Amino acid sequence: MNPRDDTTDARPVLLTGDRPTGRLHLGHYVGTLKNRVAMQQEFRTYLIIADLHMLTTRNSRDDVLASEQHIVDMVLDSIAAGIDPAQATFYLQSAIPEVCEINTYFQNLVTVPRLERMPSLKDMARDANKEEMPYGLLGYPVLQAADILCVRGNVVPVGKDNLAHVEVTREIARRFNHLYGDFFPVPEALVGEVPTLVGLDGGAKMSKSLDNAIFLSDDEATVRKKVRSMYTDPARTRPDIPGRLEGNPVFSYHDAFNPDRAEVDDLKARYVTGRVGDVEVKDKLAVAVNALLEPMRARRRAFAEQPGLVEQVIIDGTATVRAVVQDTVGGMRRAMGLAQVADGLARRARFRHDTKQALEAR
Ligand code: TRP
Repeated sequence: MNPRDDTTDARPVLLTGDRPTGRLHLGHYVGTLKNRVAMQQEFRTYLIIADLHMLTTRNSRDDVLASEQHIVDMVLDSIAAGIDPAQATFYLQSAIPEVCEINTYFQNLVTVPRLERMPSLKDMARDANKEEMPYGLLGYPVLQAADILCVRGNVVPVGKDNLAHVEVTREIARRFNHLYGDFFPVPEALVGEVPTLVGLDGGAKMSKSLDNAIFLSDDEATVRKKVRSMYTDPARTRPDIPGRLEGNPVFSYHDAFNPDRAEVDDLKARYVTGRVGDVEVKDKLAVAVNALLEPMRARRRAFAEQPGLVEQVIIDGTATVRAVVQDTVGGMRRAMGLAQVADGLARRARFRHDTKQALEAR
């Protein structure tokens, strides 16, 4: 079957995605998934499974092999969260080698000091226990620019930690357009309404590696258990002691996930005056989170019941995106002059061939 032709779809283009390192959690949901779901119809939506980016910090054979299950889990998480695979297109980055070609061109449009200044890359190097910065990791934002611009993306819904990367993409797009003529849109980043969700432990952010996350795939009892164990105001050893809302993750989560504003306001009022127990506050939060996750569980079940379907969605999507990327690369090569050089060489070779034939005919 031929891949779907997306090059005639006139909608603005949305591109975003994740590294296949594990299941998605509530932080992903409020930070970016919710935006993706809301925008998937208005935009031609591409969701990258960024396995080449994963290699910048995890590149053992075991890491790579483990990504297969993570890929399936992650796409199921997205579908469960409301991404419609008939609307949005999932694809596997490493299966589109033209992305690496674009990356090579882009490497000449950004300086090393510009990349060395990015705090996110230093953090990633440290988290991965790297003593020195790997060349590939330094180029992480450049490869990300290749992802965003290979489909000529207009909008990039990301978590706050990725804002600086999208800024590099914008600079690269402008630089390319300046050197070779107007070719790429300058994409906009879009951050969700809760840019960073704190962890269950009250830590800086919810993260799988910090073991402080509620996963979209957690069942009802697990959610209840995790919420019960959440960090809360440590000074409040009895329900009649007035509590603090600031820096209290239980209330941050009520704000983020409990649609019953009146209930949240009532709980807060009683909390700060010492008229409510932690158990009531947490149980009401668990109910709200489970109400959010319950329809996700149903969608996940419906999809997971059909073996091979998620995998087929990824394979078909990759073929569709590859055709778009090949179109972009062709345009880039013409804009840069590389296509003209190749054509010129072919013309000269033909000339030689024609001359030789003419001489032999005499
Ligand atoms: N950097 C993203 C992350 O933190 C993954 C990613 C790779 C991405 N390429 C992208 C996000 C392009 C948005 C657009 O996991």
